[in-house]
Amino acid sequence: MNKKFVTFLPAGVKVEVESGTDLLTAASKANIEIKAPCGGDGTCGKCAVKLTSGTAKARRDSHLAARMAEKGYNLACQTIVQDEDLVVEIPKTSAMSKHQVLVDSSTAGQGMSEALSDYLLHVWQLKELFQQKQECALNGYPLNPLCRRIKLTLPPANLQDNRDDLNRLTMALKKETKCTDINVPLSIIRNLGEIIRADNFRVRVLLSEVNGKAEVLAIVPGHESKPLYGVAVDIGTTTVVAYLLDLDKGRILETAGTHNRQARFGDDVISRIVYAVDEEDGMKNIHQSIIDTINTLIMDLLVKQRHIKENDIRVMMTAGNTTMAHLFLGINPKFIRLEPYIPTANFYPVVKAQELGIRINADALVFSYPSVASYVGGDIVSGTLFTGMGNEDAPISLLIDIGTNGEMVLGAGDWLVTCSCSAGPAFEGSGITFGMRAMYGAIERMEIDPQTYEVSYTTVSNGKPMGICGSGLIDCLAKLRQTGIIDRAGKFQTSLPTERMRIGEAGPEFVLVWQEETDLDRDIIISEADVKNLLRAKGAVFAGIRTLLNVVGFELESIEHIYVAGGFGNYLNIPDAIAIGLLPDIPLEKYKYVGNTSAKGACMALLSQEAWAEANNLASKLTYIELSAGNLFMDEFVSSLFIPHTDLTLFPNVR
Ligand code: FES
Repeated sequence: MNKKFVTFLPAGVKVEVESGTDLLTAASKANIEIKAPCGGDGTCGKCAVKLTSGTAKARRDSHLAARMAEKGYNLACQTIVQDEDLVVEIPKTSAMSKHQVLVDSSTAGQGMSEALSDYLLHVWQLKELFQQKQECALNGYPLNPLCRRIKLTLPPANLQDNRDDLNRLTMALKKETKCTDINVPLSIIRNLGEIIRADNFRVRVLLSEVNGKAEVLAIVPGHESKPLYGVAVDIGTTTVVAYLLDLDKGRILETAGTHNRQARFGDDVISRIVYAVDEEDGMKNIHQSIIDTINTLIMDLLVKQRHIKENDIRVMMTAGNTTMAHLFLGINPKFIRLEPYIPTANFYPVVKAQELGIRINADALVFSYPSVASYVGGDIVSGTLFTGMGNEDAPISLLIDIGTNGEMVLGAGDWLVTCSCSAGPAFEGSGITFGMRAMYGAIERMEIDPQTYEVSYTTVSNGKPMGICGSGLIDCLAKLRQTGIIDRAGKFQTSLPTERMRIGEAGPEFVLVWQEETDLDRDIIISEADVKNLLRAKGAVFAGIRTLLNVVGFELESIEHIYVAGGFGNYLNIPDAIAIGLLPDIPLEKYKYVGNTSAKGACMALLSQEAWAEANNLASKLTYIELSAGNLFMDEFVSSLFIPHTDLTLFPNVR
């Protein structure tokens, strides 16, 4: 087949591809990442690029904004390399290139690597990572890691004690660990005789214990021991965060984070499932992408802690949503997205690192947090563990994680109900004209003057504005309503005396930032269609909360704590979130930001067998409510499509 060169600007990276390859695939081959929320389907319009040399075939560009098309842009995923070499310019708005994210100044001088700043991380996560480089919060669980080293002095073999060596070892381990089921792999048995005699029957045994069962991971002569290390990984759909832990001391030694490399197959779990199922080698590629992402993070952790080697890491714990768990373990996720939405597995086997290609000790055990249902995964179980909602004396609480889906858990102690409402990825920036993740240049706070309609804003890392992230969108919606720019149904008041209000390509729009203040080639606007998308997203979350309350027969006032987890972190403006009807109108002191509870729960489970046992117990205990069954959710959803709600008595403090 005919091969051609494609050069990507401004990086100047050249790659050779077969003619017939689309530019999105070519960019991926060149290790250049272009935004592709729809996974190359041609429907999101975010992968715009410009050909500066050569001609190519455009499949369909119907989702490209007209003004971009006029300026000569094409969709990368729909532009096919043919008979000519190409030079392709990637504009800032399409690039997923690395941004410099400044380290929180409060951490300066604490010996923490600034290399982390090189990643496309949510800023809140970055700050949280640094704050957590310390003792890991075990929230009352004992430090009793999933993997530990035991020093044994075995009874010496002699004519009176003529048991075989394996029996000698397992009997001693049973006594020491209280485990009744001990597995010693053949690879260890092969040299067991030599090893136990090398230092006069004194050995160190490395083993992992779970629920009364132990797996021997290694056995060496003598009693001298080195520290033990483990890695906890939060596998997010967008970002992946890894923690290197000293298992003996229960300390986080190092942290690293990066974006999930699966993003090139689509922003959300549905696009990734479609890719995995429908594309040739899709499953293989997408599985390998997450393995590569994690291996890169492990390398990063070890570069910062040079005295620790890959082989020293003996155990790993992962937490992620159900789709991420399936893709990580290479389990076909096909039925997660098909009614009746059944995952292949909710509880996952413990596997050896070498089976997955994870670059730690080949025999290290890899644990995965259990899921509850297709759209309530291990990340939520992990969050439930971290918040202590399942504890005997826990008050009625609500854990809410707003991402692509609004996942939530309501309950106290013995009873816990959970659901996932498809809020859509609006708060993560998808489906919003200038939506973006909380990265450099994202507008995260906003005010609108009620008299002049002038807009003031702050951006992530004070960068020139590039778009609006979730917290900025919530502020924006609240301010548009408070200033009367939109009505309660989200309709624009087009007769307002300001040039910021105008009719754009997609109908009424309001200019948030004039082009001169940006690094872009156009104004940053919010359109009526964007507002409708946001209303649907916030409506789905609030309807989910009301549905759970209805199911268990409680009112909003019964909730003692609302734990806000996930991507908004400390940046969500709770009063504004209440004002738009996203979160319940209850006293602010009942709200608590809990940050990345998926990662925190993963660390807890790695460091405490008791916490891991409770995580498994919680996954069995959580009662999943399928919102698409019955009309309750839909009725609530329709009522929630207004600001703040059709029933204003639910929001007594919102003007
Ligand atoms: Fe190209 Fe979505 S339109 S990736």
